[in-house]
Amino acid sequence: MTFKRNTVTAALPYANGPVHIGHLAGCYIPADIYVRYLRSKGDDVVFVCGSDEHGVPITIKAKKEGITPQQVVDKYHKMMGDSFKEFGISFDVYSRTSSKIHHETASDFFRNLYDKGVFTEQVTEQYYDEEAKQFLADRYIIGTCPKCANENAYGDQCEKCGTSLSPTELINPRSTLSGAKPVLRQTKNWFLPLDKLSPKIKAYIESHPDWKANVYGQCKSWLDSGDGLQPRAMTRDLDWGVPVPVDGADGKVLYVWFDAPIGYISATKELFANTAEPNKWELYWKDKESRLIHFIGKDNIVFHCIIFPAMLMEQGEFILPDNVPANEFLNLEGDKISTSRNWAVWLHEYLIDFKGKEDVLRYTLSANMPETKDNDFTWKDFQTKNNSELADIYGNFINRVLVLTNKNYNGIVPEASEYTKGDLLILEEMTRFPDKIADSLDKFRFREAQSEMMNLARLGNKYLADQEPWKLIKTDEKRVRTIMNIAVQISANLAIVCEPFLPFTSAKLFKMLNLSPLKWSHAKNSNNISAGHKINENPEILFTKIEDEQVIAQVNKLEESKN
Ligand code: 2FM
Ligand code: ZN
Repeated sequence: MTFKRNTVTAALPYANGPVHIGHLAGCYIPADIYVRYLRSKGDDVVFVCGSDEHGVPITIKAKKEGITPQQVVDKYHKMMGDSFKEFGISFDVYSRTSSKIHHETASDFFRNLYDKGVFTEQVTEQYYDEEAKQFLADRYIIGTCPKCANENAYGDQCEKCGTSLSPTELINPRSTLSGAKPVLRQTKNWFLPLDKLSPKIKAYIESHPDWKANVYGQCKSWLDSGDGLQPRAMTRDLDWGVPVPVDGADGKVLYVWFDAPIGYISATKELFANTAEPNKWELYWKDKESRLIHFIGKDNIVFHCIIFPAMLMEQGEFILPDNVPANEFLNLEGDKISTSRNWAVWLHEYLIDFKGKEDVLRYTLSANMPETKDNDFTWKDFQTKNNSELADIYGNFINRVLVLTNKNYNGIVPEASEYTKGDLLILEEMTRFPDKIADSLDKFRFREAQSEMMNLARLGNKYLADQEPWKLIKTDEKRVRTIMNIAVQISANLAIVCEPFLPFTSAKLFKMLNLSPLKWSHAKNSNNISAGHKINENPEILFTKIEDEQVIAQVNKLEESKN
C-alpha cells in the first residue's frame, strides 16, 4: 500500500527529569533520522511529540522535591523542549499533556468510548496506603514481578521483563509513599475489556508480520500466553491528571497510559490550531491514506501495539499504527542507565560539555543503536567514533577537497575533462548511495543506513588518497581538474545523504560548498555542482579531535555521581 502522508510520533517523555542518551538512542534519534529522510524525499510528514505530564512519575517527583506537580512539569517541559531543539530533533510540534487542548481531546475521547458502552464499570479491591491516605496506583506501588522475580516491579509494569501488570499481581507489594504494606479497599473504575477485544487485536497484530521481530514477537507472546489479554483499568483514584468526565467519578483521573498516546493527537491538533486549516490534523489521523508510525522504547510496546490500537479501533474514526519500530535499551559503560542512581549521560549537560559536537553524539548513538538487542555506550567508543571515523574519514576528505580547491583553483570548481574507467566507476557507485541508504531506512535499520552513508565518505577519502592530486598537481594539472571535480561532486552528494544523520554537519557542508541544501533525489546525480561554481573560502574543520582528557573527565564525572 502506498501512503499519501505520514504521521510520525516519538514517545512523549515523562516531564519528571531531563533527557538522557537512553531516551535518545531508544526513540528520538531514529524518529528524527526517519522524518528528515522523508522530508528530504519530499514526502508529506508531521513529526509530533510533547511532554507526558500526568501520572505517578510526576507526583512522586513533586513529593521528592517538595514542589507541586505543575511546577515539576513546567520545569522539565521547558528543559526537555530546549534540549531536543538544540540537539536538532526536528519535531513539528512539541506539545504537553497539561495543555487545555489535550485535556479536552483526552476527555472527549474517553467520553466517546464511554457513550458507546466500550468500558466495563467494575468495583475492585485496590491497594490503599493507610498512612498516606490514598490509593496506590501504578508506580506508587512496587513489589516482586510474578513473571521474572524482579523485586522492584511497578504496579503497572515490570521494567525488567516488560510485562504489563496490575498492582494485585505483585508479590510482596509495598507502598513507595511510606514503605508500608498496603491494604485492599474497594473502589470503582472503568476498564477497557481487552479480553473481549482480543480477537480484533490479534487480527490486527497478525496483519503486521512485517514489524520488527522484537515487537511482533512480544505482541504475539502476550496474545498467545495462557491467560491472554486481561481487562485494564483506564481510570485511577488520583488527583493529578485529566478528570474522568462522567458522573460519579469525583477524585478520579484518566489512567496516564490512556491519555498519553492521545497526546499525539492533541499535539497534531495544536500544530494546525492557528493556521488557515485548523482541521487539517484530521487528515493525519483519520484518512486511510495516512501512515501512522510510533517510535518508542521496548517498555512502551504493549501500550502502542495493543492498548492504544484497541482504543482507536473502538473509537472507530481513526487509523491504526502501521508500524511501531521499538528499540531495545541502551546501557552505559556496561551498566543499566538509571536516573535514580544518576548513571546517565544527560543531554543538557552534553550540550554544554561538547558544544558544537551535537552530531558526534547523534552519530555514536546511531552506530550503537539498540535495534535488535540491548547495546552499550562507552565514552572511549564515543572518542574513537569521532576521531577515527568522523574526523579521519569524513572530515579529512572534506577538508582536502575544500583546501585543494581553494589553493589550486581559487575556490572555483574546475571542469572535468577525460574520465578514466576508474572515475566512471566511482561516479556510478556514488549515485547508488541514496537508494542503498533508503532501502535500510525503509526497514528501520538505522545502523546499517548510517554505516552506508559513511561508506560514501570512505569512497571519497579513498579516491583522493589513491589519486594523490596534491602530488599530481606538479606533473599533470589537467588530470587534477577532473579529480577535484569528482571529489566536489562526492562532497555535495555526501551533504545530501548525511543530513538525516548529521544535520549540523550537512548544513555546514552545504554552506562551505556555497550551495543551497539539495533534496534526496539529487544524490542520484553525478553533477550537482557545475564547473565554475565558487565555493566558500576558509573552510572550517568539521570534526575536531576529542582528547583523552575530555573522555577521562566524563568517566570520572560518572563514577563520582555514583557516590
Ligand atoms: O515511558 C514513558 O516515558 C512514557 N511517558 C511514554 C509515553 S508514550 C505516549 F504514549 F505518550
Ligand atoms: Zn518482570
